[in-house]
This record gives sequence, structure tokens and C-alpha cells, in this order.
Amino acid sequence: LTDGPLRGKRILVTSGPTHEPIDPVRYIANRSSGAQGTAIARALAALGAEVVFVTGPADVPAPDGVQVVRVQTAQQMSDAVDAALPADAAVFAAAVADWRMAQASDRKLKKSRDGLPVLEFAENPDILARVAHMTEGRPGLVVGFAAETDDVIENAAAKRARKQCDWIVANDVSPATGIMGGTENAVVLISAEGAETWPRMGKDAVARRLAERIAGALSG
Ligand code: C5P
Repeated sequence: LTDGPLRGKRILVTSGPTHEPIDPVRYIANRSSGAQGTAIARALAALGAEVVFVTGPADVPAPDGVQVVRVQTAQQMSDAVDAALPADAAVFAAAVADWRMAQASDRKLKKSRDGLPVLEFAENPDILARVAHMTEGRPGLVVGFAAETDDVIENAAAKRARKQCDWIVANDVSPATGIMGGTENAVVLISAEGAETWPRMGKDAVARRLAERIAGALSG
């Protein structure tokens, strides 16, 4: 099972949402299922890669044949990514929460005692941007994702430049596409060579095609 074009390559994949605690029983989250990141980890392992799969609390089970690191918060995901490096490539498919509580309460907020809560936020670290900007120990190939609702290619290309990643897998998540929460995806791969529009296909097929492209890049 470890045979294939990615044999001997170590690849980090982040996936799923993060949960940011408000108090011991409540949290802020998003609707990421983890389906696309899970499919990518599975496809990379199928090509022989040693995959470290850092996942938030996803709806779908983690794939077999990968090293699974389970986290809850963005900060934990960031720490787990650091612990997983170095890697030959890193794919950041997680839907990391942009914000956490400035100060999570260590006891349950109570209606009777605390009244209406006012939530104060702090910004989470941008894990992809941090890793892509590394001057030492940067993975040779850093891949980010961009979910956009308009001007997909322009916005994703700007994101690629800002975050300094090598590739951006951009998808159009405007409601009319039905992609959010669905089983299909329509993506544009943005690299230094420009924008390549892939036909609409299942998330598993997107994952296999991306894994093959990664294998090509790491061998070339
Ligand atoms: O800026 P935006 O959230 O649209 O960027 C999405 C890309 O950045 C994804 O690849 C996501 O995994 C990554 N990201 C991250 N850490 C964050 C926010 C986004 O790694 N705090």
C-alpha cells in the first residue's frame, strides 16, 4: 500500500472546522464537513504518501492509512501543524475559524447570573500564511484553499500572493452552485503558471486529480 509515486514523501493535510470555546459547554464553529480534506488525505495515501492528517471535529470519519491528529481549536491546529513539520508538501483544506473568544470563560455562563453575554473576539493565527512565509523548514509545496462567491479567479490569485502559497484551489461557493455541503466541487487551480479551470466533478475526483498533480510537482 505504500507503493506509488508519493512513496517516501511526507505530506501534511489540515481538514475540517475548528471549534472555539465560549465557555466549558459552548463553542463557535462553522459548517465545514471535512469531506474535501478527508478525500485529499485518502488520495495522497493511495499514491503512497506518508500523510499526517490534522483534523478539527469533522462530520466524516478520518481515512485509513494516515496518521490522525485530532484538534478542536485553531491554536491547537497551528501547534499540531508545527509538530508535524517538516514535510515535503502541505495542503491546508481546513476551515479555520477566523476568530476565537478574547477570553473564554472557565465556568459556564449563566442566564440568571450573567445576563446577556457580550462576546469579545480575538483574531486566530493564519496557519497557511505562517507556514508559507517560513524561511526555514518551509514545505517544498504549500497548497491553500479559497472559497469565493464572486470574482473567484481574481480573489483567489490575490489570496495566493498575499499568503505566499504555491497553489490555491479555488471554488465558487455561491448558493446557486449547490457546492457548499454537496458532494461535488468545481475548482480552479491557481499557480505561478496561471489559472486552470477543472470541470465539475465529485470531491473524491478533485482529490485524486490534486494528489496526482502534487505527485508530479514533487517528482519534477
Ligand atoms: O483567508 P481564507 O480563510 O479565505 O483562506 C483560506 C485558506 O487559508 C485555506 O487554505 C485555510 O485552510 C487557510 N487558513 C489557515 N488558517 C486560518 C485561516 C485560513 O490555515 N486561520
